[in-house]
Amino acid sequence: MQRTLAILKPDCVRKNLVGKVLAHLQEAGFKIVAMKMVHLNAKTAGEFYAVHKQRPFFNDLVKFMTSGPCVPLVLEKENAIQDYRKTIGATDPAQADEGTVRKLYADSKEQNIVHGSDSPESAAYEIAHFFSNAELVDNFGA
Ligand code: CMP
Repeated sequence: MQRTLAILKPDCVRKNLVGKVLAHLQEAGFKIVAMKMVHLNAKTAGEFYAVHKQRPFFNDLVKFMTSGPCVPLVLEKENAIQDYRKTIGATDPAQADEGTVRKLYADSKEQNIVHGSDSPESAAYEIAHFFSNAELVDNFGA
């Protein structure tokens, strides 16, 4: 089993799509092992996206991610990191495959509904950013 960190971003919350996106992810076979709603500030968003600090879009990304509450969650599945990225589609919804979360719901590359870890190393960093070990449950549900 592998774990990945997902975030339902502020646009997902604003557009009342949390339930639909969670259902999409559960139907794709992911189990939720942790979840919360948080409103990031410039410090916590900047730390989360530290890897993008030098990128030209960093300030806009932090501004967007602090624009409202978001829902970080830890998902578990065989091959979770790669499968989740397939399920959500390309960063830019215009490039995303039909039926993916971003193709269905995202407006732009900047406001693209969801985030997902891109490697086991980033998943470990990102999960620890939001959750303590005690907050990760064993989910034996369907
Ligand atoms: P995410 O998976 O959250 O990781 C970094 C985010 O930066 C990405 O999704 C995009 O929403 C956002 N972003 C904004 N502009 C760009 C860009 N030009 N290239 C890549 N990511 C971008």
